[in-house]
Amino acid sequence: MAQTLASLSLSKVVCSVLLLCHVRSASVLYDLDITNDGPITTEAQATIHSTLRMKDGGNSPVSDRKYHFSWVYGPLILVESSEHGMDSTIIVTSPFPGVFPVSVQVMHTDCWLCQTIARNLTVLEVSEFIVGNLSITQTEDHDKLDSRSPTGALTRVSFLLHDPSNYFESASFTYKWDFGDGTEMTTEYPTVYHNYSTVGVCSVHLEVAAEWRQDGTRMEQRRKMVQKTGHFSAALELMDAVRGINIVGSTEAHVMENLNLSLHIQGSLPLHLCWLIKTECVPLDRDHCHLVAMNATHYNLSHVFRDAGQYCLSVRVENGVNMLQSYQEIQVRPSGIHPAFLALPCITLLSAMLGLAAYVTFRSSAQQKDLVEVADFDFSPTSDTSPSGSKWNCRQMCCETCCLWPSQESCETIREHHSLLRPLREPVKMYTM
Ligand SMILES: *[C@@H]1O[C@H](CO)[C@@H](O)[C@H](O)[C@H]1NC(C)=O
Ligand SMILES: *[C@@H]1O[C@H](CO)[C@@H](O)[C@H](O)[C@H]1NC(C)=O
Ligand SMILES: *[C@@H]1O[C@H](CO)[C@@H](O)[C@H](O)[C@H]1NC(C)=O
Ligand SMILES: *[C@@H]1O[C@H](CO)[C@@H](O)[C@H](O)[C@H]1NC(C)=O
Ligand SMILES: *[C@@H]1O[C@H](CO)[C@@H](O)[C@H](O)[C@H]1NC(C)=O
Repeated sequence: MAQTLASLSLSKVVCSVLLLCHVRSASVLYDLDITNDGPITTEAQATIHSTLRMKDGGNSPVSDRKYHFSWVYGPLILVESSEHGMDSTIIVTSPFPGVFPVSVQVMHTDCWLCQTIARNLTVLEVSEFIVGNLSITQTEDHDKLDSRSPTGALTRVSFLLHDPSNYFESASFTYKWDFGDGTEMTTEYPTVYHNYSTVGVCSVHLEVAAEWRQDGTRMEQRRKMVQKTGHFSAALELMDAVRGINIVGSTEAHVMENLNLSLHIQGSLPLHLCWLIKTECVPLDRDHCHLVAMNATHYNLSHVFRDAGQYCLSVRVENGVNMLQSYQEIQVRPSGIHPAFLALPCITLLSAMLGLAAYVTFRSSAQQKDLVEVADFDFSPTSDTSPSGSKWNCRQMCCETCCLWPSQESCETIREHHSLLRPLREPVKMYTM
């Protein structure tokens, strides 16, 4: 008896667990997306769309079952509704402004006492005013930049009406612009250009008026004029375009010495600097240079050259308005040490060798003659590789023996760099807008 009771309660527990599992799995099996194309103006129509999806994106065998979408749209007025498989759409309108929640729930149609398998909610905003967006963008006037005229900024101000149901189809619009600098303007088109004489924060106010004839109510058949208005504001921090890159400092350096250059940039912050030192001038892109986010209009650059020769510093500066490139040639000389210092050990070595040669000649024997030839062999090969003058001969002879020079490579790179093309000097301008 007790056993039966126990097994009964056990089966009850199992049952309820199974039921719970079923409910849980059913509730997590579906996603119900719900979107609306609001905000809308009073009397205009909004479309609210809902789609039932299987959770992991896959198509399940149950997807050919029938679903019922149950909408709750509160005080909104239903204009139209439609249902296709796993999609349902309603079109609503409202004579009053407000924020209205619209909810939907979905259940199977082929079962008795069916549970809701998914639900979701969206909020529709209805405004008594015209709905849209006012935007300001700064554009660049190329002529103005080239003439290096004082600061100022050209802006494009534009209004975009949001009217998904074409409610304003037959309306005629009037736009009253106030640019905040004492300039006002009235137009019939939604986009204007305005030139601000100074940079800084600008703010624009717009008053939009729409007017059209509408069919009269049932009471009076006469057509009446309808008017809607809207007020919009937008602000933008105007920036000064990058107008110049001034490279200050010595453009000559010596090997293994710091070259310090200061870059002064004319243009509004934030600036993005990108620089590269190579043997030739190159147009830069963001990937192959030293990137610096500048929070000041100057930047101190320091570089150590390992080899002598002709180099080019390529600089690219960009802000939100435009981009400018500039190039600077840099001459790197072999060393900071005076040639006289180098000559001293050379002379010492030479005298030692000459002494040895004299000693060897004096002792003149066939065996010792070979030694002299070895000494000669050490001197000769570098003599024709020198690019300039007799001081060079001495230095390069010392290259390997004195160890004062970094390596033979440096002697060779000197010659390589001399044959390079002369780089560009003029800054190249490119504009992003
Ligand atoms: C409700 O709808 C939104 C918008 O489609 C969606 O991002 C969200 O995942 C949905 N929530 C559920 C529980 O399905
Ligand atoms: C209008 O601006 C709002 C934010 O201010 C933005 O969320 C919305 O997507 C914009 N609408 C259009 C049509 O650009
Ligand atoms: C460059 O600056 C460093 C310190 O940052 C200094 O040690 C060096 O002497 C400077 N080089 C020249 C050529 O002025
Ligand atoms: C600019 O950068 C320096 C260091 O690079 C920092 O100390 C300073 O706070 C920064 N200034 C601003 C305004 O971000
Ligand atoms: C750059 O160098 C100048 C001197 O050449 C110095 O006055 C200035 O403080 C330096 N700026 C920075 C950010 O190191």
